[in-house]
Amino acid sequence: MPLTTAEKITLFQEKSAKIEAMGGPKMVEKQHAAGKLTARERINFLFDEGTFQEIDRFVTHHSTFFGMEKNFVPGDAVVTGYGLVDGRPVYVFAQDFTAMGGSMGEWQAEKICKVLDMAGKMGAPVVGINDSGGARIQEGMFSLSGYGKIFFRNSRYSGVVPQITAICGPTAGGAVYSPALMDFIFMVKGYGQMYITGPEVIKAATGEIISTDELGGAVTHNKISGNAHFVCDNDEDCLNKIKTLLSYLPSSNRETTPIKETSDPVDRMEEKLQSFVPDSPNRAFNMKNLIKLIVDDGEIFEVSQMYAQNMLTIFARLNGRAIGIIANQPQFMSGCLDVNASDKAARFIRFCDSFNIPIFTFVDVPGFLPGKGQEHGGIIRHGAKMLFAYSEATVPKLTIITRKAYGGSYMAMCSKDMGPDQVIAWPTAQIAVMGAEGAANIIFRKEMAAAADPDAVRQKRIDEYEELFNNPYVAASKGHVDIICEPKETRPVLIKALESLVTKEEELPWKKHSNMPL
Ligand code: HXC
Repeated sequence: MPLTTAEKITLFQEKSAKIEAMGGPKMVEKQHAAGKLTARERINFLFDEGTFQEIDRFVTHHSTFFGMEKNFVPGDAVVTGYGLVDGRPVYVFAQDFTAMGGSMGEWQAEKICKVLDMAGKMGAPVVGINDSGGARIQEGMFSLSGYGKIFFRNSRYSGVVPQITAICGPTAGGAVYSPALMDFIFMVKGYGQMYITGPEVIKAATGEIISTDELGGAVTHNKISGNAHFVCDNDEDCLNKIKTLLSYLPSSNRETTPIKETSDPVDRMEEKLQSFVPDSPNRAFNMKNLIKLIVDDGEIFEVSQMYAQNMLTIFARLNGRAIGIIANQPQFMSGCLDVNASDKAARFIRFCDSFNIPIFTFVDVPGFLPGKGQEHGGIIRHGAKMLFAYSEATVPKLTIITRKAYGGSYMAMCSKDMGPDQVIAWPTAQIAVMGAEGAANIIFRKEMAAAADPDAVRQKRIDEYEELFNNPYVAASKGHVDIICEPKETRPVLIKALESLVTKEEELPWKKHSNMPL
């Protein structure tokens, strides 16, 4: 007997509800007991109320290995779809750990690939929420192939739409490479983990004993490896931070940065900046606080806060327009450039350039960090990444020299020759090959050695060098500095410069793609 219309609708409701229940009440309880939200709760938290539309709810696995045909895996352990975050479209996939440990089967991968393709075509960011035991062991190579298809799309859509990953559970083995191929990784403390080989395999292979958290927890990846960009206290904190990040980003490479109304005056003079740079060149100042005094409402959103703290990478706004800031932090390692700082900055520059986010570089850099460790660690190659990234970037670029701008490290911080649209210097700027003391010791060594009073000669030569180069005027006399302004004027000067650059167009010479040092 054919079903009536009412029966058909009831059948649909039953089937849909069964999938919506995910792995069932016991597994949901287990998920909550672990302090985690379920995939559906995470999605509801992410999107504006009532805007989420699920797709592929009825997709299921088709595996028959190891009795899998008897195994019902709702939605193939992933929830996918789209909705609005602060009124703007975003695509999502969230692995459902309550269903077979969120494991990646062939059809879970197909669902994820579909949203990646949709996000790419529609020009909207994609958020992936990871919570999974990895490749579904029963599906063998079909599961691996699924990962491959995802990696392929992550790479193809890189620079097309922002791709953001939340690590809200285990992410093991090759599964870590989809997050690694995306733009930003958020990790939740305690249960967010990423590693290629787990503690058991490591113990068997090398005898090393290490906990899962120490090996691949949120702090490890934010502070030591630099693989992750944000540490989060729990799922809610993670999703809130993702929403904040999205508020700074255009939806795709075809859009410019979003604008947020501000009541912070465009002509605000900031007296505190007048005395911000200490008299002594050897005393540090906090560049983060300096930046807060300039940008809209003192609001910043810092990327990779725990990694390479000598380099700051920050999203902020000027006159409502989102910008990316790269800055030396004199409070850590005197703001020297090293391998990790170079990597951190170069990747951020490239992200901003991909998505039309103007780049502001705040400089107080004494040099590259000297030492065998850095040289053998490839500082030549890593430092080159910054030169490359700045030279290649065609977005509006502004360089602000607050104090030291020495030698090659200044070039790596977007000196005039790396193509910034304008270089703005404070009267405290020192633009030279190196500090006066080091310079005098080298070029006047013979003279000092021969002198009756070497210290007096040294001081005289240091003073001479300082007078000549430890200021912005020599550089400005040949246009290497476009504007010298008082520190208090920086906000209005930067806003005027930014507004003058919104129509900027610059084409790179035709190429298949560049070959940046990696
Ligand atoms: C199939 C899996 C699974 C997997 C978990 N489950 N991982 N099923 N394939 N990879 C199932 C479990 O059997 C269990 O089912 C349910 O999910 C929940 O898992 P538990 O073990 O009970 O949860 P928990 O104690 O929290 O432990 C979580 C875990 C553990 C640490 C993730 O499940 C685990 O070690 N899983 C295997 C991890 C792994 O080695 N994956 C393959 C990595 S290699 P029941 O029915 O008992 O509830 C890989 C290669 C990718 O991913 C390569 C890409 C290029």
